[in-house]
Amino acid sequence: MKQEKTKNNFDFIAPVYDSLATWIYGKAIRMVQVDLLQYLRNGDKLLILGGGTGWIISEIFKIVEPELLVYVEPSQVMMEKSKQRINNLSPVQRLKVNLVHDRAENLQLNEEFDAILGFFFFDLFESRMLVKLLNRLQRNLKTRGKLLVADFFLKEKPSWRKPLLDAMYLFFRWVSGLANQSLAPFDEIFSNQGFKLASESFYFQNFIRGTAWYKIK
Ligand SMILES: C[S@@+](CC[C@H](N)C(=O)[O-])C[C@H]1O[C@@H](n2cnc3c(N)ncnc32)[C@H](O)[C@@H]1O
Repeated sequence: MKQEKTKNNFDFIAPVYDSLATWIYGKAIRMVQVDLLQYLRNGDKLLILGGGTGWIISEIFKIVEPELLVYVEPSQVMMEKSKQRINNLSPVQRLKVNLVHDRAENLQLNEEFDAILGFFFFDLFESRMLVKLLNRLQRNLKTRGKLLVADFFLKEKPSWRKPLLDAMYLFFRWVSGLANQSLAPFDEIFSNQGFKLASESFYFQNFIRGTAWYKIK
């Protein structure tokens, strides 16, 4: 993949990303993701977008035996870390993992997946881009397939949450050249794109939310 040096590139932060996230959000940052894995089934075909350092791959294999796990990550450093992680899997499990070093927007996949996982990933996109991306992804998701989302959440009176979110966006603009600077209206966009909310759960005083959606059209 041709790496853009300045735009939305997590290479610089990758070595400390997991520690930093745990330092700020404690167990919540992993708990929200692991809790969503309850929606996976043995034999599922899974698509993981912006998977980061790859710790989630081992967690998935502790819970289910997917038939296929396509893991999409554009950061070279994140990808190297993920490669090291999959060395801990059994040879049979490793064969089921397909690491794709690219951006989600560039994906050209023929598979139909049972679930798409976007954990602290959809917050990288402004509304228009998110709609475009979902339009593409939908073609690769089975009807009744699941869209599992872990991300930040602002309720009506966000108090300290809004300044913290703004500070995070500023930080990621600085360290990774992230262009987006605010959360898109996820619920409205996912609903308009043909997904129905099946469940939601909250963490870190409602600042982090896990949602399971399924495709209805
Ligand atoms: C905030 S991190 C979250 C990582 C991981 N999901 C986690 O929760 O630990 C966002 C990840 O998305 C990746 N990313 C950024 N832009 C992307 C894109 N256009 N397509 C796919 N992944 C992307 C980054 O390299 C980074 O690893």
